[in-house]
Amino acid sequence: MPISLAVLEEVVREAGSIALTYFKDLKNVKVHRKSPRDFVTAADLAVEVFLKEALTGRYPEFGFWGEESGQSANQTNRWIVDPIDGTHSFSRGQYFWSISVALEIAQELIIGAVYAPALNDYYCAEKGRGAWKNGQPITVSSEDNLSDGMVATGFACLRSYLTDNNLERFGRIAQNTTGQRRFGSAALDLCFVADGQVDAFWEQELNLYDVAAGTLIAREAGATVTDFQGNQGLFPKQILVTNGKILNQILPLM
Ligand code: IPD
Ligand code: CA
Ligand code: CA
Repeated sequence: MPISLAVLEEVVREAGSIALTYFKDLKNVKVHRKSPRDFVTAADLAVEVFLKEALTGRYPEFGFWGEESGQSANQTNRWIVDPIDGTHSFSRGQYFWSISVALEIAQELIIGAVYAPALNDYYCAEKGRGAWKNGQPITVSSEDNLSDGMVATGFACLRSYLTDNNLERFGRIAQNTTGQRRFGSAALDLCFVADGQVDAFWEQELNLYDVAAGTLIAREAGATVTDFQGNQGLFPKQILVTNGKILNQILPLM
């Protein structure tokens, strides 16, 4: 089957329906801790089982890497999946969580989708062709003054073990911006930079499955993706995504 955004959307929306059946019945959904601040539910597992079967069934030439089931088959050309990004928010009945699916071929992100079922917002992108939200093209914000900007961040679930827990950095940047947000789904945070809801997002200690699809969406919408020193590239352990115009103002504060 040829790879297409339409096939991806059909599969990801169906995964969203599965997640929503759990979300609407949360009192019967048990939450397990993988570590003190890292959560998993039956919904995460069910969505990943569905996506693995649906994607590798349609495209057996690609391998699979999902947060919950790990890596299988071809890891040069593979689907990279976070079945629910923002499980903690999901488990509390909040709306900012998403399903994240990207196709990576020889280390290049080719297509990606991030779907927030509770918001019914569907973001997708194809390398070299652009990024869309609910079928409409999206671009980053035009804000070029950090002090007027709105930024988002996240606090890694491993933060107790990190010497750099992001609090000082958050304080510095909060003093130099107008608005700060913590949405709770890194995949969605990247989409919010992509469609101009925020001007920048940063986080540490993420994994490729948290940010693969969102990175393609953000880049295709005109965002710059760097590490905290400004090196261009995808660094999940230290990711800074901006509209490009405020990059040089935020870098000294990182
Ligand atoms: C988490 C979310 C959250 C981020 C955490 C991630 P999960 O992913 O992306 O926004 O702050 O660091 O682990 O565990 O809900 O898939
Ligand atoms: Ca995640
Ligand atoms: Ca997850």
